[in-house]
Order: sequence, then C-alpha cells, then structure tokens
Amino acid sequence: MEKENFLEKIISFAKRRGFIFQSSEIYGGFGSCYDYGPLGVELKNNIKKQWWKEMIKIQDNIVGLDSSILMNPKVWEASGHLTAGFADELVECKKCNRRFIKDHLDKNKCPECGGELMKPRKFNLMMKTFVGPVEDEASITYLRAETCQGIYMNFQNVLQTMRKSLPFGIAQIGKAFRNEITPKDFIFRTREFEQMEMQWFCEPKSANKFFDFWLEQRLNWYYDLGIKKENIKTYEVPKKELAHYAKRAVDILYKFPFGWKEIEGIHNRGDWDLSNHSKHSGQDLQYFDEPAFAKASAGKKYYPHIIETSAGADRSLLAFLTEAYQEVEGGRTETTESTKEIEMVLKLNKLLAPVKVAVFPLVKNKPELVKKADEVYKMLKPHFVCQYDETGSIGRRYRRQDEIGTMFCVTIDFQTLEDDTVTVRNRDTMKQERIKIEDLSEKIKMLLFD
Ligand code: GAP
Repeated sequence: MEKENFLEKIISFAKRRGFIFQSSEIYGGFGSCYDYGPLGVELKNNIKKQWWKEMIKIQDNIVGLDSSILMNPKVWEASGHLTAGFADELVECKKCNRRFIKDHLDKNKCPECGGELMKPRKFNLMMKTFVGPVEDEASITYLRAETCQGIYMNFQNVLQTMRKSLPFGIAQIGKAFRNEITPKDFIFRTREFEQMEMQWFCEPKSANKFFDFWLEQRLNWYYDLGIKKENIKTYEVPKKELAHYAKRAVDILYKFPFGWKEIEGIHNRGDWDLSNHSKHSGQDLQYFDEPAFAKASAGKKYYPHIIETSAGADRSLLAFLTEAYQEVEGGRTETTESTKEIEMVLKLNKLLAPVKVAVFPLVKNKPELVKKADEVYKMLKPHFVCQYDETGSIGRRYRRQDEIGTMFCVTIDFQTLEDDTVTVRNRDTMKQERIKIEDLSEKIKMLLFD
C-alpha cells in the first residue's frame, strides 16, 4: 500500500468505523484533540489491560498506583520541568505574535505575515492552570506532563505500606498534557495523551543490568501482541540529546507510515528524581538497606536508581492499528470467484480486538431464527464484547466484522432449530465450525484466552 495515503486511510477508517473522532467536531475540532469512539475505547482499554497485566501479574514485584493529575507546583520545579529542561526554543513574530520552532525557519521573517521576528526564547511545554477561584500567582499549577512524577511523590508511601524492599516497581496509567508546539500525525503527537509508565527502583550498581532486562521485556510485549519484528527498532539516544533527567535512554521505534517514530522510551534516570525531590521537599527519600547477611550494601542509606519504561497508550494504539490494517484486493474468499473488490480485515491480536463475537440470524425475515439469535446474543454478551447484526447478506456482514477485527462470527441457521448448533467463523482462517450452543461460551473463551 502506498505510504503517502496510508495514514489518511487509517484516519478515515478510524472515523468511519467508530474508533477515533475529532474532538468538538461540530465546532470545527480543537487543536490536535481526539475522542475515542465505541470501538476505539474498547481497543485502548484492551491495550491498557494487557500492559497492566504484564506489569502487575506477569512481572515480579510491581504494584500499581493512580495518582492525581494536579500536584503541588513545587513538584515541577524539583523535577526540572519548569526550567530549561522541558522547553523548546521558539521565535515570536513582532507583528502577529505567532511562534515558530527556531530550527524550522529558513529566513529571519515570519512565514505567516512576513513580520519581523523577536530573539529566540525558551517556551515551556507545561500546561498552566489555576486552582481555586482567584487567578493569581499563588494559585498557578500545571497539568502533569508525565505520570511518573506522581510515582516519585508516592515512593515512600508505597515502600512503607506495601513493605517493599529493592528492587521493586510502581506502575501507573494516566493522562499527561504537553503544550506541544507542533502536534501532528493524528494521535501520534497530541497535547493531551495517555502514558503507561513503570518506575523500577533498584540499587545503583544493578541499574545497567535492569535497563537491558526491561528493554527486552518491553520489546517482547509488542511482539507478543502482534507487531512484526521488522517494524520495530531501537535507537540509543546520543548523550547530547538526552532529556534533562536521563543518564541513558533507548527509544523503541515503530515503522509508521510517516517514518520510524518513538512509541516508548526506556530511561535510566539515575537518582535525579528522588535526590531532587529530597532537596526541594526537605524529606529524606533515601532507601535504608536493612543489615542482612551477604548483602554488599547492607545497612547503607542511598537513593535508589530508577529504570523507567514509558509508553504512550495512544501511540501504541496507532501502531497496533497500522500493523493490523490490511486490504485484500479481489476479496478474501477463495471459495468463490474474485469480486475484484478490495476487502479489508483488521488483523488485531485476539486480546486487543475490540469486538470478540458477532451474532447473526441467517436471515432477518424468519422470526424463529431472529428469536434464537437474540437468545444466543444475550447469552454471550455478559462474557464478551458482542455485536448483533441482521442486515444485509451474510457475506456483507462477515466483511463488516472483518473490517473492525471481530474474532468470531456466530450464525444461527435452519439447522440450529433442529439440533441447537451454530456455525462459528474464525476471522483469520475464515473456517467455519459447528458448535453446540451450550458449549459456545466455553469454546470461545478457550479460543480467545488459552
Ligand atoms: N516519563 C518520561 C517521559 O515522559 P517521554 O519520552 O517524554 O518520556 C514517553 O514520553 C512516551 O509518552 C513517548 O514514548 C510517547 O509514547 C508518549 N508521548 C510523549 N509525548 C507525547 C505526545 N505529545 N503525544 C502522544 N504521546 C506522547
């Protein structure tokens, strides 16, 4: 498929089939904000669920957290986000006051109105807001720019209440906000987005070993959920490009239609966060390693080092959608003659597919079939995300479901009325199997989750 219009295809598909809409569309939209529709929210929830399962259930010694978006503004002073560390260098036009990234300009003139430009200045990406009724300096705070700061704020709470010892991790999923100068590429770079971050606290000397471990684990997560190895690569961030907090960073890049771009960062943050928060808050956030036999650092106090895995839920979703979107020229069916039509199938991993089962009566003008199909639909609905569809030919209904990646289509036909069996069609093999209605739930569960 041509690269140029592939993103356009994904955007139009995402809207047409209820995955992603522009925010405030009836008012002309709102700068790079998007809403997840009925299928998009299922897909995004499934991605977040798989990430949470990986961190909390599969990996060892990680606990979860849900911290607030608004925090004491001192957090952002200590973290370095309010100083030069989290800013782009911009030039402002003296005439129209538009701002541009310095490096993106060829001439020293405003590209919009030709006006004269001011000297470059740092423009902070933090989203400012006011808490309480008075809009003065004292009430300024910020929407969080990364979820991990909430984790550092709770490091001591978690350590004490969960009786943890190093190494251990804290995982969190939540919204983050950045006043990006050039949001672009659909949901790839937006001003409001969701992060899935895990902070691994460890002894300084084991940080390098854990960096490699977590990088490998995170790559495997994408592969296991269906991203082909050739579409992922890693990028060792050169020292001069490192974020202000990082000692080392490796980006995980996905081959998007608009090029290789970051979907996740693995960072060695050293003791930057805990030592700075200790300094600014006056609270000692060091870890006391209880004396224990045969422990090199036994009985010492030190700042744990942090290995961070920081993924974007929206960027992963765009990567999974891009990977899964397939157009088949001439149609998918091999048993009938080629239709010359292009048919679409969304080959999402079964755990990510937003709809697991669709239920159809063979025809809609036979009340006994419709009644039975309704019973089957109601039986399956509490267990799986299901759709009921009775309009159009069976072939057309299969195609509609293939398009949104539904794993199984269950058809109630005349044989069902005789022997209580239905046909179950698999999205990927397109093979149909007859299954007894009483075994249906268990069988689908087995196919999906085993
Ligand atoms: N706590 C470290 C941190 O936030 P980052 O590299 O700035 O690191 C991590 O961001 C991940 O968050 C990125 O890999 C990306 O998936 C996601 N992300 C960052 N900025 C984003 C934006 N403007 N829109 C969508 N996702 C974004």
